[in-house]
Amino acid sequence: MASLSRKLSSFSLLDGSRALTFSVSILLASLLISGLEVGSGEDGGDELFPAILRDEAVSRINQLGKISDADGYLERTFLSPGSIRATDLIMSWMQDAGLKTWVDQMGNLHGRTDTVNATAETLLIGSHLDTVVDAGKYDGSLGIICAISALKVLRIKGKLEKLYRPVEVIAFSDEEGVRFQSTFLGSAAIAGILPPTALQISDKSGITVQDVLRENSFEATDESLVWVKYNPKSVWGYVEVHIEQGPVLETLGYPLGVVKGIAGQTRLKVEVSGAQGHAGTVPMLMRQDSMAAAAELIVTLETLCKYPDKLFAYDEQCGFFEKESLAGLVCTVGEISCWPSASNVIPGQVNFTVDIRAIDDEARKSVVSEFSNQVYRKCEQRMVNCTIKHKHDAEAAHCDSELTLQLKHATSSALRKMPSDIHGDVPILMSGAGHDAMAMSHLTKQVGMLFVRCRGGISHSPEESVLDDDVWAAGLALLQFLDQHVNQ
Ligand SMILES: *[C@@H]1O[C@H](CO)[C@@H](O)[C@H](O)[C@H]1NC(C)=O
Ligand SMILES: *[C@@H]1O[C@H](CO)[C@@H](O)[C@H](O)[C@H]1NC(C)=O
Ligand SMILES: *[C@@H]1O[C@H](CO)[C@@H](O)[C@H](O)[C@H]1NC(C)=O
Ligand SMILES: [Zn+2]
Repeated sequence: MASLSRKLSSFSLLDGSRALTFSVSILLASLLISGLEVGSGEDGGDELFPAILRDEAVSRINQLGKISDADGYLERTFLSPGSIRATDLIMSWMQDAGLKTWVDQMGNLHGRTDTVNATAETLLIGSHLDTVVDAGKYDGSLGIICAISALKVLRIKGKLEKLYRPVEVIAFSDEEGVRFQSTFLGSAAIAGILPPTALQISDKSGITVQDVLRENSFEATDESLVWVKYNPKSVWGYVEVHIEQGPVLETLGYPLGVVKGIAGQTRLKVEVSGAQGHAGTVPMLMRQDSMAAAAELIVTLETLCKYPDKLFAYDEQCGFFEKESLAGLVCTVGEISCWPSASNVIPGQVNFTVDIRAIDDEARKSVVSEFSNQVYRKCEQRMVNCTIKHKHDAEAAHCDSELTLQLKHATSSALRKMPSDIHGDVPILMSGAGHDAMAMSHLTKQVGMLFVRCRGGISHSPEESVLDDDVWAAGLALLQFLDQHVNQ
């Protein structure tokens, strides 16, 4: 900061223009207000680095938010042209932070700083660079950019060399699973839980993961998948910063929270086949209408998840399905397609997706099996053929309590230094959204997450919004956390 103000004032002396001098002094004043004045000592121990952790981070989030495969909205899917451009840009930021970079065989981007101690385990920090369709600009990007900014501060302070363990930022290539309906292609490969069969998963047009990898000059063989996998012994832990994607922190009036665990998730695809027919000639009682059947199945799912206690034969005595285990149960049908999709034709086929999440894995599995039973029963009654395909299953992940405590301390110490005075305990949250941390929990038990407040809890939407100061707070919390891994 001091050297920056020196540069700015000599600049204003060189140029005689009054307007420029004026704007520079405004800039200086705002730098003073935002950085120097607020509890920052000249000793370097308490610096807040707003220019890097807030202003530059926010500007990078905006830049990345403009890199899209679509016109007019944000969309970056697995290894799409937009994702490749995003990878290049993030790579340049990693290098600017003093990190050594490479892209692995699943398209994940890594930026690493090594230490003299070759045997020390690595701290991994990551999030995903892909997005949903018509996405917000913070989901995924925020975590990658905050991590790079925090490391950049360490580089500037000359502390990068003093880290006593390697630190590696990873920008995962696929978390949302938009194109292939299979989430965590990137992080699951690193965690070693991606089966080689994943290479054969195809998108709507029949192109496989393997095809897409080969188009981008990756080998895409069973063996190349093995190269991506990390040895658990080489990993110390995994930390992820992510927007909350829910309304809790905003309701509590708190910028950051630490995550206790992530809900498990099941994704299904239900295919309903009936008898296609003329909308004018087939009498109602003779129809095998796949659309009406699908509608009934969708409402069945909603009822099951809205009132799970009514539908479960539940045992008060052994308390298997306590209210607690069904807490956070949410079920969604988000995509439906029908054939031939014409107003005067009784649809012959309807496919729809199902997304079921719960904190308790047993409860989720019971919902899936109860739903499946009801689907088959109702399809039989309606004389349509139904199949249910399991597309994705992820167990709930529980964050490491020690790491969570460290993140909590780092967060409260960061927030105490911030200009806005925030009191009270850092909130502890559960995550209903899946994150790369879930996949990474198969690589290391030491998983921790930090959530950042977002406006209205809105995510997966261009309305997604995070305060600049909350981006700053997240970067500062991560910096505090990293400081614990530096030889002082
Ligand atoms: C190097 O790392 C290993 C593993 O974490 C640790 O046991 C050892 O003490 C470290 N050595 C030094 C010199 O820090
Ligand atoms: C359901 O499947 C059976 C056996 O494959 C077939 O005979 C029948 O025509 C199918 N019914 C519908 C409505 O598709
Ligand atoms: C439903 O899914 C099956 C299997 O993936 C596919 O063959 C069929 O074309 C799909 N139908 C519709 C209406 O999308
Ligand atoms: Zn995300």
